[in-house]
Amino acid sequence: MEKKTFYITTPIYYPSDKLHIGHSYTTVACDALARFKRMQGYDVMFLTGTDEHGQKIQDKAADKGVTPKEYVDNIVEGAGGVKDLWKLLNISYDRFIRTTDDYHIKSCQAIFTKLYEKGDIYKSIYKGHYCKPCESFWTDSQLDENGCCPDCHRPVYEAEEEAYFFKTGKYADRLLQLYEENPQFIQPESRKNEMIAFIKQGLQDTCVSRTTVPWGIPVPFDPKHTMYVWVDALSNYISALGYENDARDGFEKFWPADLHMVGKEILRFHTILWPAMLMALDLPLPKRVFGHGWLLINGGKMSKSVGNVVDPVVLCERYGVDAIRYFLLREIPFGNDGSFTNEALISRINSDLANDLGNLLSRTVAMAAKYFGGTLAPTGVTADPDAEVTALIGETPDKVAAAMDQLLIPQALMEIFRLIQRANKYIDETAPWALAKEEANAPRLQQVLYNLCEALRCAAILLNAYLPDTAPKMAAQLGLDPAGLVFANLGYGKQAGYTVRKGEALFPRIDVSKELEELAKQDEARKAEAKGQAAPAQPAPEKSQEEPEAQEHLPEITIDDFAKCEMRVAKVLACEKLPESKKLLKFRLFDGERERTILSGIAKWYQPEELVGKQVAIVANLAPRPMMKGKYVSEGMILSAADSQGNVTVVLFPDSVKPGSQLG
Ligand code: ME8
Ligand code: MG
Repeated sequence: MEKKTFYITTPIYYPSDKLHIGHSYTTVACDALARFKRMQGYDVMFLTGTDEHGQKIQDKAADKGVTPKEYVDNIVEGAGGVKDLWKLLNISYDRFIRTTDDYHIKSCQAIFTKLYEKGDIYKSIYKGHYCKPCESFWTDSQLDENGCCPDCHRPVYEAEEEAYFFKTGKYADRLLQLYEENPQFIQPESRKNEMIAFIKQGLQDTCVSRTTVPWGIPVPFDPKHTMYVWVDALSNYISALGYENDARDGFEKFWPADLHMVGKEILRFHTILWPAMLMALDLPLPKRVFGHGWLLINGGKMSKSVGNVVDPVVLCERYGVDAIRYFLLREIPFGNDGSFTNEALISRINSDLANDLGNLLSRTVAMAAKYFGGTLAPTGVTADPDAEVTALIGETPDKVAAAMDQLLIPQALMEIFRLIQRANKYIDETAPWALAKEEANAPRLQQVLYNLCEALRCAAILLNAYLPDTAPKMAAQLGLDPAGLVFANLGYGKQAGYTVRKGEALFPRIDVSKELEELAKQDEARKAEAKGQAAPAQPAPEKSQEEPEAQEHLPEITIDDFAKCEMRVAKVLACEKLPESKKLLKFRLFDGERERTILSGIAKWYQPEELVGKQVAIVANLAPRPMMKGKYVSEGMILSAADSQGNVTVVLFPDSVKPGSQLG
């Protein structure tokens, strides 16, 4: 019989810089799913890769003085790059696609041409706004209350140029029908409603080409245009299978994808633009798109631009790869946001991995060695709690598989640990050390230890998908061939006997307070080092909290341009927090002539009382801007400096400077 196939994809990552633990989260989750399906006997295709075109990368390469290709090559293939990280994290991908690969470019061009010939791509004029960090176009009405990107709230650029458009709007009804007829298509459910609302507000056609971004795939029949990065990026899921190219294969076998796993902020591209493109190409649609939540740190999205990223390499070196994998898979409710903290990580390692799992193995192996020289087999002398434990060994695999089918990864792990905890309790209940006192109890004791080995063996098979480093170590201590960690071997009694070998503790217990102290010290050292470096100037945070990922360089201006900007010293008369915003402080200022109100996004860095009576610099002739949906009007901007970590310092003047003094 032909094996059933399972095609799973991660997003392809922007190789913008070092990947962080947030990116690792998506990839580790896909890896666990892919490994699990393989163990269930599926023929799995697990695809990951990198998304290498676009303005953002072009800018970054230019900053570094290298070509875009050199820039991405280094980040993807270089030491400590994307591929190295996936190797470290034990990611078992079957294919890695780079959108700069020739075969991908060929496929994209064929796709673009097909859509054009079909009449679903047409030429027009693009007029509107563009968010570089998100690589998204927006219309006036879509911008947020500050005129910024509605997704990331960073400033947008005005754009007006000849461009090609894809008729996304034409597919609105078919998309709604798709969601309705296939309840699994968008998950979790709550996010589906967001997508429906987005379509119902009026689905516009998508601008799919640029004439100002040379670092992209040329439109084959009009090469002064390059393709919009999202058309390029989404196509990876089929170009990697050889759609419209000869370099790869598997399209017939694996398409449509069983699962596109994506972060919630890019769900829209995967559930609207992508299926619309596939509909236009007359191709089958993916079966499921899952939008997972974010890994947060201090309540905010962990992101390079905020400077709060946690480096997975550092964590793996300190705690081991599987501890990190376990934390990511177990701690974050799948589909929701979850927080990374050192405390939570250490507590997971200690309670689940060291105590529950590590102890069960070391106690069992030690007792088998002590009482039976390491070799034992079932004796048939069973007693009361046995049935409960053996039943749980029998039931657990189905429960784990059911949770995995619903993508409830933490629940799947909870089921496995329920078995591990039950087995630990079984040791306390049966008290092998007491049985060992009487020679006559030896057969019972041997049966107890066999049952424990069986629980461990089945746990090892199931854990192999999540902890691929640890499960073989468990097998080795149980005297089993790691190749036998497959689903076919699940079930109580499938192993005739054991010859155990003592080994190292799987997860040494961590002294929590010492460890936290040590981490705090390291953190201080890192901060001190960062302070020693010159902090590059960044745009003031008035408009957005999350600074652009790249250091933005604006076009050169003349002295006349500069003279148009009137900057003055102003005295802070009053300052308060706004109940409806965590970011904004509301200032009442005297600018030498009159009082004015300015809202500034610095609440994270200053208490209102710290600034009252101080003198700041303002941009005085900025057009007043309605903010917070028009509830306030901000009459200017307060100057501040943001360092590369995103820390903001307001520019202050001594009292000797009179309010109203001009800056220049
Ligand atoms: O969006 N927590 O690439 P990307 C959880 N190239 N997930 C996170 C995260 C965090 N803190 N930070 C990032 C792109 N991610 C496009 C994809 S696919 C055809 C093109 C996740 O490098 C994020 O949600 O910005 C996304 O799913 C993935 O990392 C890649 O993000
Ligand atoms: Mg992103």
